[in-house]
Amino acid sequence: MTRPTPKSFRVKSFGCQMNVYDGDRMAELLTAEGMAPAADGADADIVVLNTCHIRERAVHRVYSEIGTLQREDGSRPMIAVAGCVAQAEGAEISRRAREVDIVVGPQAYHRLPELVAKAARGETALDTDMPAASKFGALPDRGRQQRPSAFLTVQEGCDKFCTYCVVPYTRGAEVSRPWGAIMDEAKALIDGGAREITLLGQNVNAWEGADDTGHGQGLDGLIRALDQLPGLDRIRYTTSHPNDMRQGLIDAHRDVEKLMPFLHLPVQSGSDRILKAMNRSHSADSYRRVIERVREARPDIALSGDFIVGFPGESEADFEATLKLVGEIGYAQAYSFKYSPRPGTPAADMDDQIPAAVMDERLQRLQSLINAQQHTFNQTSVGQRTTVLLDRMGKLPGQKLGKSPWLQSVHLQTDAPIGDLIDVELVSAGPNSISAVPAQ
Ligand code: 5AD
Ligand code: SF4
Repeated sequence: MTRPTPKSFRVKSFGCQMNVYDGDRMAELLTAEGMAPAADGADADIVVLNTCHIRERAVHRVYSEIGTLQREDGSRPMIAVAGCVAQAEGAEISRRAREVDIVVGPQAYHRLPELVAKAARGETALDTDMPAASKFGALPDRGRQQRPSAFLTVQEGCDKFCTYCVVPYTRGAEVSRPWGAIMDEAKALIDGGAREITLLGQNVNAWEGADDTGHGQGLDGLIRALDQLPGLDRIRYTTSHPNDMRQGLIDAHRDVEKLMPFLHLPVQSGSDRILKAMNRSHSADSYRRVIERVREARPDIALSGDFIVGFPGESEADFEATLKLVGEIGYAQAYSFKYSPRPGTPAADMDDQIPAAVMDERLQRLQSLINAQQHTFNQTSVGQRTTVLLDRMGKLPGQKLGKSPWLQSVHLQTDAPIGDLIDVELVSAGPNSISAVPAQ
């Protein structure tokens, strides 16, 4: 069936921050093709679902989302499934959901305009290639009107092959973007209004490349160069792997004022037996030592992590080792997940899968510990004078929302516009957010 070429679009991203970044770049690409973003609540001619494959629930969300796109008159927009589900399931998506017109993987979305043209002609439009030439060179330059806090992908893919994880299969091998391309994109983001840049990568601290003079650099070199860019106030990076946490990067936390005191460093489990089965290639103690060194360099650093409960074979004692580790570290925030077997990963075929009820109970215990730690961390911030980057309107009249240096959500009453970095005093803390007043 042929269809008119779409004039308006909507991109909906699920999952991680890299998907948010990819979603923005797809929106910029469609805009460069002459399409306009659909107004809030209005119908779009094409809907791009930028999907996540990390856990089974994320995949279910995509299929239920496709179901909601049917209009009352029986018609529907052109539907593109992008992201990691597209990469992992490919043509099977069109079999499972016949409404889908386009399937495009995370390394091929620069070809979206050709795929839209194909779909308009009624042809099969599927592209899950991982081409040798990176998509970045084929994407339009970053547009104006960036968010105050912008994402910038510097590294993609993963070679670590943790036994539970689909990322090495959906995002491909570890690739670092070149120095020059990153610096150019950072400047364009700042020109467009960004005051904070979060460098993104599945293993962002494994970034490596050569600077303008041909010298080999790591992520710390990149951070020190970004630190010199006028107009940029804050630098962050995520997600890191404990084994790639080199001393240079730790030192940058001591030396670079614009580098925010926040580190997301997943450990997944506190049991060495489970870490080995996960193929994490680090131990609980080596993680503790990394954290110690980071805290020496930047004592006020806010720590975050990821945890999986109910990995195959996890005993009560293994789980208690995780609780013990969390208790020792003291997180400012952390994410915890029930293990979800992913097709094609080694752990999915392991013996001794853990019953759902056991996973539920462990998740609850871990989350209540983490929530308590987060509340404590927020409470200890009260009384501090610090800065907040305003990034959104709040629900109450005159209320603005933003982030503290430690990535806490902060709300306050102020006339300052979104995008301002303002001096505040933190006055009271809840488990999930902090209330502030403008500093006198
Ligand atoms: N099941 C549950 N959680 C997972 N993660 C990755 N794969 C799985 C899985 N199969 C979690 C890890 C990772 C985060 C992004 O998602 O904790 O750090
Ligand atoms: Fe997945 Fe492990 Fe790579 Fe992280 S390091 S993306 S958890 S395989």
